[in-house]
Amino acid sequence: MTIAQENLVKPQKTPKILVIISGFIIFLLVFWFQGLQSLRQFSWPLASNPPANQTLTAMLRDAVTFLPLKDLRYSDKPTTGHTWFMSSVNDTFDPNDSEYLHFPSYSSHNRLLCLLSRHRYDGAANSYAFAWPNALPHGATLLPGLTYVSDTYYDYTNLWHGLSALVPFVGWHMRKGCAVPPARWVLFHWGELRTEMATWLRSIAEVTIGKVNIETFETIDVGPVCFEEAVVFRHNQGAMAKIRLREVFDRIRCLAREFCNVDMEKIKANEEVRMTLLLRTGTRSFRNETAVVRIFEEECAKMENCRFLAAKSNNLTFCDQVRLLSKTDVLATAHGAQMTNMIFMERNSSVMEFYPVGWKEMAGPGQYVFRWLANWAGMRHQGSWSDDGGPACNGTTARLECFNSFKDRQIGHDAVYFSQWASKVLQEMKEYKRNASLALHSVSAQAISRCKCY
Ligand SMILES: *[C@@H]1O[C@H](CO)[C@@H](O)[C@H](O)[C@H]1NC(C)=O
Ligand SMILES: *[C@@H]1O[C@H](CO)[C@@H](O)[C@H](O)[C@H]1NC(C)=O
Ligand SMILES: *[C@@H]1O[C@H](CO)[C@@H](O)[C@H](O)[C@H]1NC(C)=O
Ligand SMILES: *[C@@H]1O[C@H](CO)[C@@H](O)[C@H](O)[C@H]1NC(C)=O
Ligand SMILES: *[C@@H]1O[C@H](CO)[C@@H](O)[C@H](O)[C@H]1NC(C)=O
Ligand SMILES: *[C@@H]1O[C@H](CO)[C@@H](O)[C@H](O)[C@H]1NC(C)=O
Ligand SMILES: *[C@@H]1O[C@H](CO)[C@@H](O)[C@H](O)[C@H]1NC(C)=O
Ligand SMILES: *[C@@H]1O[C@H](CO)[C@@H](O)[C@H](O)[C@H]1NC(C)=O
Repeated sequence: MTIAQENLVKPQKTPKILVIISGFIIFLLVFWFQGLQSLRQFSWPLASNPPANQTLTAMLRDAVTFLPLKDLRYSDKPTTGHTWFMSSVNDTFDPNDSEYLHFPSYSSHNRLLCLLSRHRYDGAANSYAFAWPNALPHGATLLPGLTYVSDTYYDYTNLWHGLSALVPFVGWHMRKGCAVPPARWVLFHWGELRTEMATWLRSIAEVTIGKVNIETFETIDVGPVCFEEAVVFRHNQGAMAKIRLREVFDRIRCLAREFCNVDMEKIKANEEVRMTLLLRTGTRSFRNETAVVRIFEEECAKMENCRFLAAKSNNLTFCDQVRLLSKTDVLATAHGAQMTNMIFMERNSSVMEFYPVGWKEMAGPGQYVFRWLANWAGMRHQGSWSDDGGPACNGTTARLECFNSFKDRQIGHDAVYFSQWASKVLQEMKEYKRNASLALHSVSAQAISRCKCY
């Protein structure tokens, strides 16, 4: 049978073929190995003699490359995407939080952040690099602990801008369990080193995060500085979701009140509507303060259970401001730094804003910053009034020049408009508080929780 014959023949043939093939493979392998040996000996000395530990370390150390902190290639869009600050690295996004860079981390391949950044006037002359902990660049100083690094397009002395730069760090601290404050802060504006932040801002940072040490690099020898751990924020609040901003502002408010011993139970038990007129002295003050005070005082007096208070913002300490705003339901004040204090009011409190002549036309988006802050912190911005009296700019003056000549002028008033506006805002607040107190009674006495960290 043919099938049987075939079956008998095959087993005899296969071993012969196998022997021939394996012999050929062995021959090839030997030939290849010898070739490899000669290659190793003559043209690949590094692989045959593995480098000493020190040699590899030295190579890594020499490979550390410093790049300009401010990348001028992106000067047309300095705040978008990876920004012009540390432009070689992309941000890390966590849900609802602001985008950041973290060193060492998986995305930094476990390398540390190093800076050579003492320049205060030229961000492109400052530089940064990444290095493995055992191969830091030559002459580097390793700074232990956690470092907060901030770059902002604006500054740390303007309260509104400074607060925007601070907020993501408060969020970060909360996400890390509110435990370890940073050993130091390194502040930049356009990659230029900054060594100061406004006193009010520093108070907020110290109350919410811990002691603030701003690194000036003055006590450190020349040469690069590397950080054991660093977190970098370069978009201010950036991609932070509204829900997260509210959590962060809730914590700032709560800790500031705790720090200043504000008795909120007593304040909340009081059902009156409290209006505060916060007055500026000098720039953007009311031209006729007495008249403005009288208008709001009278409007409040018309209402049952309304308390009116006028205060000068310039001589209040941090805790004076926290205390005053903690017991304010309606804040009326001119556009300006003192307005950032609205964050100490209870959520859903109201804000009324006033501008000098020229603002609406010339301030651009800058006129909306306190509307945004109200939104972030959970307040109700009840509109603004813009002085339209006085001379307007004419075509011969440049726009900026014109704005500068108007932005700090005194503010006039419109008695009829002011009283109608105040009446509406006060009535609404009264109704809101009545609603809230009814809701509170129905849910039974709500304990005032300690400042939440999450
Ligand atoms: C390798 O280098 C590291 C860091 O410089 C050092 O701690 C370690 O002892 C070295 N190992 C050897 C085997 O030399
Ligand atoms: C950063 O993101 C851009 C765009 O998504 C990408 O092209 C680039 O390779 C990224 N760079 C790094 C260093 O990851
Ligand atoms: C992010 O915000 C949404 C609501 O906007 C919420 O449902 C979600 O739980 C938040 N995620 C985190 C991680 O907090
Ligand atoms: C300020 O307003 C009050 C009340 O309207 C008025 O009596 C007073 O003359 C005004 N003062 C000035 C300096 O215009
Ligand atoms: C602020 O000034 C007002 C009047 O000028 C004064 O009555 C008040 O005591 C001052 N407050 C502080 C904290 O200095
Ligand atoms: C603020 O007011 C809104 C609408 O009345 C309400 O839903 C919300 O619970 C209030 N928020 C707080 C914190 O009271
Ligand atoms: C325009 O403004 C400039 C600068 O304020 C002033 O010198 C000039 O007289 C003004 N011209 C007119 C027509 O008002
Ligand atoms: C108070 O509650 C009523 C009824 O629920 C509601 O219609 C009204 O809008 C609330 N007012 C305010 C100011 O929250």
